[in-house]
Formats: sequence, structure tokens, C-alpha cells
Amino acid sequence: MIAQLDAIHQDAQAAIEDACDEAALEEFRIRFLGKKGALTQAASGMRDVSKEDKPAVGQKLNEVRQALTRFVEARSAQLLALKDAEAAKGIDVTLPGRRPQQAAFHPLTQVMHRGISALRQMGFTLAAGPEVETEFHCFDALNTPEDHPARNEKDTFYFADGHLLRTHTSSVQVRTMETTKPPVRIIAPGSAYRRDEIDSTHLSVFSQMEGLYVAEDVSLGDLKGTLERLFRAIFGPKTPVRFRPHFFPFTEPSFEIDIKLQPKGQDPRWIEIAGCGMVDPNVFRQICESRGDDVYDPDKVTGFAFGLGLERLAMIMWGIPDIRLLIENDQRFLRQFASA
Ligand code: PHE
Repeated sequence: MIAQLDAIHQDAQAAIEDACDEAALEEFRIRFLGKKGALTQAASGMRDVSKEDKPAVGQKLNEVRQALTRFVEARSAQLLALKDAEAAKGIDVTLPGRRPQQAAFHPLTQVMHRGISALRQMGFTLAAGPEVETEFHCFDALNTPEDHPARNEKDTFYFADGHLLRTHTSSVQVRTMETTKPPVRIIAPGSAYRRDEIDSTHLSVFSQMEGLYVAEDVSLGDLKGTLERLFRAIFGPKTPVRFRPHFFPFTEPSFEIDIKLQPKGQDPRWIEIAGCGMVDPNVFRQICESRGDDVYDPDKVTGFAFGLGLERLAMIMWGIPDIRLLIENDQRFLRQFASA
């Protein structure tokens, strides 16, 4: 039996040389070490070995089994190394690694964060409303008459069922007052939609941030102070801010706000940046009617509202010459804001 085991050992030594891939190696393992393999079969011969010879034959059996197992292990490692080498062919492992790209907030998100953080410090909380709106929330409740140009089919995207894509975030003012008793002090950043031709200063989908503060005795002074503080937080503490009389259907009096900035390489100039005003009593009256109570009675509460375009804000802040850069998602453009 010793001779038989030696023969198996020798056969295996020759056969392992031919096991040149994983399938062949598995065949080898089954042929020699498997349940019905040569070694197992030889081992069953132990029954007939005499008592005196058993220890020696047993030892031999173990030695051959170990040797064969080592063949398989060594060959398997070799095949793996070969596979690795094949996979790494043509790769220079001494090259320096590639630096992972640093993530960054989009410039629009960055201005939004700045605005939100300044307003939060003044007690404003976030609010939101749907982008698919009713005519009521976008226009009627905001004292905007049927024949107002903003409601024109040329300016607003209407759905067949009469809904529309909100043309401004001011609809969130209405929704907030419908569901919340005064005092309210909210900011509502979000998308707005207009049928504008896309060019270097217009998009048909853009971002606004709305603000509303309603309580007893909110004054024009509060409006001025709040917005001056907001724009100085964003553009620097000495930025001149000016309020220019204007008209919006839902505020009275109304203003446009300009800030004086010096764009790179140009003379300082006033740049229009937001619309605002004291909430029109007609808006409050409509809210009372919708709510069926009088907590927004214009004799009891006053308030101010403002709205600003975030694209415009970003363009002014970084001197971005074309609004389309903000939606193209060109990495070469966006990467510049990674450390801001
Ligand atoms: N909704 C106005 C616009 O889109 C901005 C605005 C908001 C004006 C609130 C006054 C008060 O132009």
C-alpha cells in the first residue's frame, strides 16, 4: 500500500503541472482528493493492513494527503497571481493617485443659504408651497386683477384644468396665512416659472426667496431695517441700500430695493435686487374671507413682504455674466465655487 501511495503522489506531481487554469485545478482536486478520488480509495485499503503496519501506512497516507493539499494550494495561489498580473497589465502602479474631487454647493444654493441664515437670525422660519398652483393663490388672493399682464397666457404656464406654474413665490404668503394665525414670520425659497425667452438674464424656471412678516404694528421701519440687514449680511456691512417707490398689486406702498456695488472693473452703481412692500389690506381681507375668521383683520395686523431672485443675487455676488451658466452644470464653471 505504501507503494500505491507513492504512485499516487508521483501521478499527482505530474498532473498538477497540467492544471493550468481553475477548472483544471478543480478536476485535479476531485481526481485525487475528492470523495471518490484516488487517495480516498487508497485509504479504504487501510482495513486490510495488518496491525503492525498500520501506524507506518497511516503516516504515509497523511503525508501524501498533505502533499497533495499543498499542491492544490500552491497552484491556486499561482493562478491568482497570474490573474492579478493580467488585470494590472498596462497599469503603472507607481503613478501618483488621483485626488478625489471636492464636493461643493451650487452657487444658487450658497446664496440661498446665506439669505436663509441671515433671516433666521431675525426670527424667520422656513415655509414652502406647491409649484403647481391655483390662480387663486398665485393671483386673486394677491389682489391681482383678471386683466393684469402677469396673468396673460403669454407670461404664465397654464394647465388645461386651470392650474398654473407659480410665477412667483408670493403664493406661499397666501398659503401660510390661510393655515397659520399671526404673528407669522416666514421665508420661502423655491422655483418660479415664467414664459420668458431664455437669454443671458432670463430663464423660464428660476429661483426666488419670499419673505413675509405679519403681526400687530409691523411698520415700514421694520421692513427697511430687516432688508438692510439682510443685504448687508450678504454683501458686506457697509453696502448702501435704497428703497425706490414701485408698484405691486399685493403691497402698498411698494418698493424696489437697490444696492450700490462696484462690479469688477466698473464704477460703483445701483443695482436692483428685490421687490417689497407693506401687505395690502385687500390681501388681508381676502385671507379673512378664506379662513372664515378675522385674525388677519387689516385693522388689527400689518405686515411686510419681499421677494428676491436668487439667480440675480448670485450673478451680482460673483460677477457671473450669463444666467445660463447657472443651469448648464458645466463642471469647469461649478468647480470655481468649491471653496466658497
Ligand atoms: N412677487 C414679486 C415678483 O416676483 C416680488 C415681491 C414679493 C414684491 C413680495 C413685493 C412683495 O416680482
